[in-house]
Amino acid sequence: MTEPDLYTLYKGVLLPTLVHPPQSLKRFEMFTFRPDDIVIITYPKSGTTWMQEIVPLIVSGGEPASVESLHNWDRVPWLEVARTCSLNLDSRPSPRMFTTHFLPHMMPPSFFQVKPKVIYVIRNPKDVFVSSFHYCAMASFLADPGPQNEFLQKFLKGEVMFGSWFNHVKAWLNYKERIFYICYEEMIKDLEGSVSRIALFLEKTLDNDVIGAIAERCMFKNMKKNNMSNYSAVPNDIMDTSKSEFLRKGIVGDWKNLLTVAEVENFDTVYAENMKDVDYKFAWD
Ligand code: A3P
Repeated sequence: MTEPDLYTLYKGVLLPTLVHPPQSLKRFEMFTFRPDDIVIITYPKSGTTWMQEIVPLIVSGGEPASVESLHNWDRVPWLEVARTCSLNLDSRPSPRMFTTHFLPHMMPPSFFQVKPKVIYVIRNPKDVFVSSFHYCAMASFLADPGPQNEFLQKFLKGEVMFGSWFNHVKAWLNYKERIFYICYEEMIKDLEGSVSRIALFLEKTLDNDVIGAIAERCMFKNMKKNNMSNYSAVPNDIMDTSKSEFLRKGIVGDWKNLLTVAEVENFDTVYAENMKDVDYKFAWD
């Protein structure tokens, strides 16, 4: 199906309607944060699920049950999705952990008043594009990506779910309150060091062996085995794993296997234009 059939325009951004019906968007608009809430924020396909594994393990001091008793979508729920309406978030003990793909202008007033802790994961947009291309082909609630170059043009213009990668990243880089930025590529390069820095931001003191054990658990090959995190519980008519897995490759630079030389040039031109005023050293630069 195409975008008009499947997506809703909400605050200028396309959202998959099935997952984000009006009642769940309304509910999030009224949501009340606590100061010690932890919010994982990402543009889709940037390492959200990975962080939904890392953060509960850090908060629990490395307790395996923290990622084995609930599916990632209930463990660190997306605040804007329909399913979350059925979770009693008020009864959860602090620190509560949440996820969102929203941009700052879509966040509820309480977010700016309370200023919960934010972890923002950023991934090279070329790899985000590749991951999205495969994901849109396998998820029935998302518009079919169509031919690669057509999807690339949409991605570069932000005519995809959650809008423009450039707008998302720039908007969150401008949000200066209690936010920890980390690149997917840094996590691939040094997962233990990354876990350690995230723990520091979360003010959680952990022994080195606990940090090491968390990093080990969160390695791609190990996370793939966790049925509470690998999306194997989702029926095949919603996510068709014969087309692509959710935890697909988990590598840096897969864009080199997919994009043509002309597409890379096109991408680089649009990237340079959009990011020229951004003063942030990305791990892929
Ligand atoms: P690929 O499709 O490139 O493999 P999100 O969770 O934001 O939707 O992002 C999904 C992407 O993160 C997928 O990328 C997935 O494989 C990758 N990912 C998930 N867990 C990972 C891990 N432990 N290590 C590396 N990559 C991981």
